[in-house]
Amino acid sequence: MPVKPYAHPNGAVAPTIPTQFVPRHVAVVMDGNGRWANQRGLPRNEGHRAGEAALLDVVAGAIEMGIDCVSAYAFSTENWKRSIDEVSFIMKFSVDVLDRQLETLNNWGVRIRWAGRRPKLWKSVIKRLEECEEATKNNTVCTLVMCVNYGGRAEIADAAAALAQDVADGKLKSTSINEKVFQKYLDEPDLPDVDLFLRTSGEQRFSNFLLWQSAYAEMVFMNVLWPDVDRTTLWKAVEEYALRDRRYGGAVDKISK
Ligand code: IPE
Ligand code: IPE
Ligand code: MG
Repeated sequence: MPVKPYAHPNGAVAPTIPTQFVPRHVAVVMDGNGRWANQRGLPRNEGHRAGEAALLDVVAGAIEMGIDCVSAYAFSTENWKRSIDEVSFIMKFSVDVLDRQLETLNNWGVRIRWAGRRPKLWKSVIKRLEECEEATKNNTVCTLVMCVNYGGRAEIADAAAALAQDVADGKLKSTSINEKVFQKYLDEPDLPDVDLFLRTSGEQRFSNFLLWQSAYAEMVFMNVLWPDVDRTTLWKAVEEYALRDRRYGGAVDKISK
């Protein structure tokens, strides 16, 4: 039996929101680590280090709210542009975080999955991510997708390549390609579309995160740096999400007299 996550240190409890207004899938761009560190006169890597607790607390908050899936953007296909020192730190740190947190997440009933590209990614990181996927594959409380060496365009281009290969091999007719078929070639085809796209640090952009899956996501941008985040940040975002009118292109008259 999964155990409940530890309580919020200040005793904060999740807001009561009717289930239909709770997002099933939340995408989180964990941004602002470098600025958080630099504001304190520290090197950027200290910001990444301080972000570990934030992620764990957000997962705890997601479980408390009954959110099915959290996709966490940990390293993008563009983040290789950073200094060797920072890239190597993040690679080693990712393995360490998984080592430290696997037991807790597993106890909470969290299923860990990895979305991202293999090329360039450190073997040690791939190995640990795959071990975590295997160790938690039967968990059903919440899914945590660690997006490491992930890029939305790369994911779509890779899917197109795999699809073209299937057509060339005669496994698929080009005339039967549609959105549903295409989606099957993405990294995690069985996950629901993103409902809530949350980015911290004040930046208001996708930065190549879950482009296909976020087509109709509600965007919430928060002015808080990632290491200062805890589950109450997620809850605030969900409260805002719950007020949004999701129309998906449809329209109905709401004439007031
Ligand atoms: C997000 O924080 C973490 C990663 C991209 C790995 P940043 O490192 O981008 O922090 P800022 O945006 O420079 O403050
Ligand atoms: C997006 O943040 C990537 C992650 C949070 C892992 P970045 O900091 O890399 O994005 P930009 O450069 O501000 O667009
Ligand atoms: Mg950033």
